[in-house]
Amino acid sequence: MIQFIPTDKVNKPVDRKVNFVDIKKTPPKVRELIKGACYDCHSDETKYPGYAYIAPISWSVKSHINEGREHLNFSIWGTYNKDLKKSMLEKSVQTIENKTMPMPGYMVYHKKANLSEAERMLLVQYFEGMLKTKTY
Ligand code: HEC
Repeated sequence: MIQFIPTDKVNKPVDRKVNFVDIKKTPPKVRELIKGACYDCHSDETKYPGYAYIAPISWSVKSHINEGREHLNFSIWGTYNKDLKKSMLEKSVQTIENKTMPMPGYMVYHKKANLSEAERMLLVQYFEGMLKTKTY
């Protein structure tokens, strides 16, 4: 019966004026990577995969998303102060390089998040470029 316990999967509307990929005018290729590999847990634009509706997986997926968003939410990037933006970009570079992000367990179900070395490098370069030019 646990299948019928609903978990709240309604996304909040996204304000383009503070949404990372919109305000940064992220190039399409990088945008696709961030949206495919990070936005599910780090934005208000979660695309819930089919398996997310099957309890108890749904509870685990939802808690990862809530927890991920608490740490970093790209949908409200524009509301972060400079220090927080800088620290989030630095941590993103670190976590992509040491492969703790995207969360390994998630990639099993979500092939798009299983980034190749080249894709990881592209993301790292993109975030590092912003750090170097202080355009976060
Ligand atoms: C399946 C969900 C999921 C995906 C996909 C995911 N993350 Fe995370 N992320 C989390 C969770 C949960 C945490 C907090 C717990 C932790 O650090 O393990 C987190 C933490 C982080 C942190 C640390 C924030 C802090 O305050 O220390 C950064 C940075 C981050 N993620 C970046 C990314 C980036 C960049 C991507 C895409 C390449 C990504 N994440 C993909 C779930 C996810």
